[in-house]
Amino acid sequence: MSELPLTSPLLAIETSCDDTACAILSPDGTILAERVLSQTGHAALGGVVPEIAARAHLSALPALLDETLRAAGIGMDDIGAFAASTGPGLIGGLIVGSSLAKGIAMAQHKPFVAVNHIEAHALTARLPGLTPTQIGFPYLLLLVSGGHCQCVAVRGVGHYERLGGTIDDAAGEAFDKVAKLLGLGWPGGPALEKLAKEGGPRAVNLPRPLLGREGCDFSFSGLKTAVARQIAPYGQEALPRQVAADIAASFQRCVADIMADRAEHALAMLLDATCIVVAGGVAANGELRARLEAVAAAHHLPFVAPPLRLCTDNAVMVGWAALETLKARADKNLDAPDDIPIAPRPRWPLAEVQAP
Ligand code: KG4
Ligand code: ZN
Repeated sequence: MSELPLTSPLLAIETSCDDTACAILSPDGTILAERVLSQTGHAALGGVVPEIAARAHLSALPALLDETLRAAGIGMDDIGAFAASTGPGLIGGLIVGSSLAKGIAMAQHKPFVAVNHIEAHALTARLPGLTPTQIGFPYLLLLVSGGHCQCVAVRGVGHYERLGGTIDDAAGEAFDKVAKLLGLGWPGGPALEKLAKEGGPRAVNLPRPLLGREGCDFSFSGLKTAVARQIAPYGQEALPRQVAADIAASFQRCVADIMADRAEHALAMLLDATCIVVAGGVAANGELRARLEAVAAAHHLPFVAPPLRLCTDNAVMVGWAALETLKARADKNLDAPDDIPIAPRPRWPLAEVQAP
């Protein structure tokens, strides 16, 4: 194992869903190079097909790795440590990314850090340069993507508490399903947001599941059913554009109301929160961002939304989480972790992440 703290760059790989990504970070977290290849083939199939995603990672990753090294202007021998998303996610992709990172780490006699993908989303907001001063613990994370929808108390590196989460669909999944009902493409979130600009947010009355209920769990499946009921009288083919736009705008408002309410409840569960952080692809949504920002402002808390490329799946966040782990271990006079034996895990709840 190399000595800590790290003196040379770290290379990170992300392959847990449908984005193949590599990044190289200097030991202080400066991004030396980053590459993301989003698999587009799934659009025609209406969603991510795990086997196709895994094969695409396998064919794209070696060249992407070389390209990232070239962009950073360094060679593999210059890398001091390796990291990869090792779960949760689609098992095929996790195996591809983590096996490659482990293999190179072993060949180079360098440490490998197995990173929990959710932890990586959670710590991104602490990336140097993102905020004037690095945000401190504890903070409230709202992770809203196609696969995740949860409120997390981030108390420290390796110390996470899931305050609540969805009991059915993830927020992004709800956007995608409603967009599909409206005849929009996949992923549906961006298309739905665009269409919503032409509609009235109060035009269609939709339920707000769990609103006001204790805790900060989410539920979106009833909402999707309600939208389907609105569309049924016309049929998708004959749905007038204005009706579609009104449904889109009303649905978006509804999700924003739910998010704001759940964030309020989450804050009541984390009274010493220093800020609210949002991450995940759904964080791209302007109305949602604005509403969460308003909740933060009402509590006199800063609101941190990393730039979109760092909100969606990427390898920078994986590298940064690994650096945070290495630093936390160094602070305790511990060596780099020996994560080679850690097998990829399709399910890996935050609560089971080991503290450094
Ligand atoms: O984080 P992400 O890129 O991938 C994972 O799911 O891990 O998130 C993708 C999700 C999709 O469900 C997509 O529809 C949603 O984020 N999304 C949006 C917007 N942009 C992306 N949802 C609402 N509004 C958007 N502007
Ligand atoms: Zn993700």
